[in-house]
Amino acid sequence: MKTEWYKNAVVYQIYPFSYKDSNNDGWGDIEGIISKLDYIKDLGVNAIWFSPLYKSPDYDYGYDISDYKDIDEKFGTMADFDRLLEECHKRDLKVIMDMVINHTSIEHPWFKQALSSPDSPYRDYYIIRKGKWVKDKLMPPTNWSSTFTGSAWERIGETDEFYLHLFCKEQADLNWENENVRREIIDILNFWLGKGVDGFRFDVFNMFSKVYPFKDDNDPKSFQKGAQYFVDGPKMHEFLKELNEKSLSLFDSYTVGESFNPSEEACLEYVRKSNNELDTIFNFAHFASDNIANKQFFKKPFNIRQFKDGLFKPQRSYYGEGWNTLVLENHDNPRSVSRFSIETDKYHYEAATFLATITYMGFGIPFIYMGQEIGMTNCDFKSIDDLKDPVSHFVYDLMTSYGMPKKMAFSFIKYGARDHARVPMQWNDSVNAGFNEGTKPWQCINPEYKKYNVEKDLTSEKSIYRYYQKLLKIKKENKIAVYGRTDEYDHDNNKIIAYSRTYETKRLFVVGNFSKKKVSYDIPIWAVRKILINNYDKLTVRGTTITLEPYQAVVFEEE
Ligand code: NOJ
Repeated sequence: MKTEWYKNAVVYQIYPFSYKDSNNDGWGDIEGIISKLDYIKDLGVNAIWFSPLYKSPDYDYGYDISDYKDIDEKFGTMADFDRLLEECHKRDLKVIMDMVINHTSIEHPWFKQALSSPDSPYRDYYIIRKGKWVKDKLMPPTNWSSTFTGSAWERIGETDEFYLHLFCKEQADLNWENENVRREIIDILNFWLGKGVDGFRFDVFNMFSKVYPFKDDNDPKSFQKGAQYFVDGPKMHEFLKELNEKSLSLFDSYTVGESFNPSEEACLEYVRKSNNELDTIFNFAHFASDNIANKQFFKKPFNIRQFKDGLFKPQRSYYGEGWNTLVLENHDNPRSVSRFSIETDKYHYEAATFLATITYMGFGIPFIYMGQEIGMTNCDFKSIDDLKDPVSHFVYDLMTSYGMPKKMAFSFIKYGARDHARVPMQWNDSVNAGFNEGTKPWQCINPEYKKYNVEKDLTSEKSIYRYYQKLLKIKKENKIAVYGRTDEYDHDNNKIIAYSRTYETKRLFVVGNFSKKKVSYDIPIWAVRKILINNYDKLTVRGTTITLEPYQAVVFEEE
């Protein structure tokens, strides 16, 4: 049944709120997306992942779903979605739906029913526990913290019971131990697969299984209180196998699981083909290379070795066992050209094309986040009120509640905010960057839009989009780029990132200068004759020594 089409897929991620607003109401919508499908197709991708389009009260902008089988009005109707699916398929674009099934919105009928009566069968759909009386105070059942700050438990009205929420309090965790919950989820997956969608991105999948019995986390060093009770739990493999058996394997589907700080051993088991669990996962280890412990608001100087580790470890570990993904951006992270200690203004084109080359020529499926293909940058937000993401506010409030001056707290938030990726797509230099016809968008426009927009990029001599087109063509068509094994070179070099890909008897050599200074580097003799792609016009070569300009990246092919 499975054709494994994903192996030479290139995926484009759309955050529907901000792509294109066709009816000028301030929100992006399905009609707007349809109008841009040719633009997406021309980039050279063959699949689109849509961040949630389902009904949601939007406490976490779509990641809190109140109806899994309907489309939210602001995006359109189910008929619009069906047309989107058809238009994508007409263009040979696969459709990947976001599936947020670790938790539901508290406005989901299951949750409402769960709370309506202590005898409701829906009560066991969620994780509800009695609190602890400490002296005269009712405390949550455990001391775990939500990944979005604060306690992971919310008291139910005036009762002595609490429900678990590992994210916002408006996102209640589902009880996967309950067979009926799993049956409902399988039914939802089959509903969408039956419609013809081609796969899913599972939101925080490695939190589905919790560790029982629940206990306090007494480790004074733990960064995320309680994580050992809700990450990579003991039934993860069993649950994923069941989804496969009863749904995913019945269709030609593809899955990518988004993980939360997974262990390396667990990752390999999730993607090991013979395990029949997931086709791929996202592991964001390389995103911790410019922040502390992947806590994105806490800046640290860019550490190239950590970036390389994060990028290459999964490539080494999964090769021959399963498949990999290659990611630079998504809706949860700052823009890639504005991080990793890059001087964005000076090296905008070079850095954007460099990052794409060294990342996407590796082993795995390239995931491109909307706007990345024109090098969209972080937004110069002026105050905390410009930010819409609840997490930005939670962390800001927490910092200021500990006495941190507001200005300082804001500078931390601005460094890592998810909002950077969520501002409207910059199509041109007209009103609201061409996102709509002038109604104030739900999220502010990046003031850089006159400098960086699609229209300008496409007509520029140094077009990032056109470079992506060339790179992605190679990525899809060159067998070594798709199937080759990755071998890293010079891990300890703190300027150069280099690796070979080997498939059967042929090799590629990928090398890039992750610095603002010229760097000379010796490349293998077998590589030196043929350049497949280079993000500069020229390359200085003497014998086997090349001299790379700032952020220059080159791919050589063995002749
Ligand atoms: C991961 C999603 O990517 C993020 O946007 C969301 O806030 C959390 N999971 C919770 O669903």
